[in-house]
Amino acid sequence: MKKFDVYPIFDIEPIRGEGSWIWDANGQKYLDFYGGHAVISIGHSHPYFVEKISKQLEQLAFYSNSIVNPLQDKLAEKLGKVSGYEDYNLFLVNSGAEANENAIKLAAFQNQRDKVVVFNKGFHGRTSMAVQATDNPKIQTSLDQNDRIIRGEINDLGALDYIINDSVSCVIIEGIQGVGGIHEPTLEFWQKLRGKCYDYGVVLIADEIQSGYGRSGKFFAHQYGDIKPDLITVAKGMGNGFPIGGVLIGPQFEPWFGMLGTTFGGNHLACTAGLAVLEVIQRQNLIKNAEKWGEVLIKELESLPGVKEVRGKGLMLGAEFEFPIANIRKELVTKEFVFTGSSSNPNVLRLLPPLNIGEFEVEFMIEKLKKVINKQVSLA
Ligand SMILES: Cc1ncc(COP(=O)(O)O)c(C=O)c1O
Repeated sequence: MKKFDVYPIFDIEPIRGEGSWIWDANGQKYLDFYGGHAVISIGHSHPYFVEKISKQLEQLAFYSNSIVNPLQDKLAEKLGKVSGYEDYNLFLVNSGAEANENAIKLAAFQNQRDKVVVFNKGFHGRTSMAVQATDNPKIQTSLDQNDRIIRGEINDLGALDYIINDSVSCVIIEGIQGVGGIHEPTLEFWQKLRGKCYDYGVVLIADEIQSGYGRSGKFFAHQYGDIKPDLITVAKGMGNGFPIGGVLIGPQFEPWFGMLGTTFGGNHLACTAGLAVLEVIQRQNLIKNAEKWGEVLIKELESLPGVKEVRGKGLMLGAEFEFPIANIRKELVTKEFVFTGSSSNPNVLRLLPPLNIGEFEVEFMIEKLKKVINKQVSLA
């Protein structure tokens, strides 16, 4: 059997990671300014994370959701405290798409409506409702074409007056759009959206799968909008590489037995990983660190030749160039040994490093980027 070949790949085989750095099979060292799609939050192979998971693995890796598992309660309590959502409840799953599926479903259970408001350039995953909510016809099939989805544009305040009404079950919106090229809803947009959802009994879902867990310089990016969504979805940075996702559920939602379910969600290893991540985020002040180095990076990126605009917050940044960045990204990884990301906008370089980067990593990144850009500009 061979792999089902769906991923275009760089010919690099990472075999070891430490903090913000990765080593390949030939011993070459790389700076990781992409965190494997925003997944690495506390740094590769953080010793505390490794110790906790190893110990749990020796004790018990898994048992089903039909037994007592205090690790789930501990994780929920800790996440409530660190994020500022102590009165919410937590449902644990295994991935971002699964978190969004469950959130959209919870909304429909609550209000029995069938329309979903989504935004242009949004990405919410590849499963049933998540892919319908995603703005990319290429990954949708005939099953996903229906009149359930209403599309708007983030920061179009006027549009909120007609896309939100009493036939709408939920709105799903990213804290900061990631795959779409780093676009942030404004404070005014969050405020009006929240108000409209209250007015019409519409469930507001913040997809914080990429922008959450401290990445933006606040625990959740929507906290820049000074609002509280009804449901918040998380994954990626939650497990620092261990697959785990979740839905933070407002107190107005009443659970009943069998309402939601999963085999693997909330297993012992995943909860242990999730707890270790939150403990390290707190202990090492990683949210402040993301805010601090984000501000430095924004200034540095804005001063680079060819950069038209820098968007994002904390360590979720997009530098939009006046030209496509594919060559810059390729040179960075193959010649300068720095991982960065792309987006659906070919001119946007996406930066999502681990939250524990420091001065050395930031300077290293900027120096390498300058070198590559100067080469590109002199070739043009
Ligand atoms: C904002 C957002 N939502 C949902 C997802 C889907 O997550 P997963 O790939 O874990 O299903 C992603 C993945 O990139 C994402 O960025």
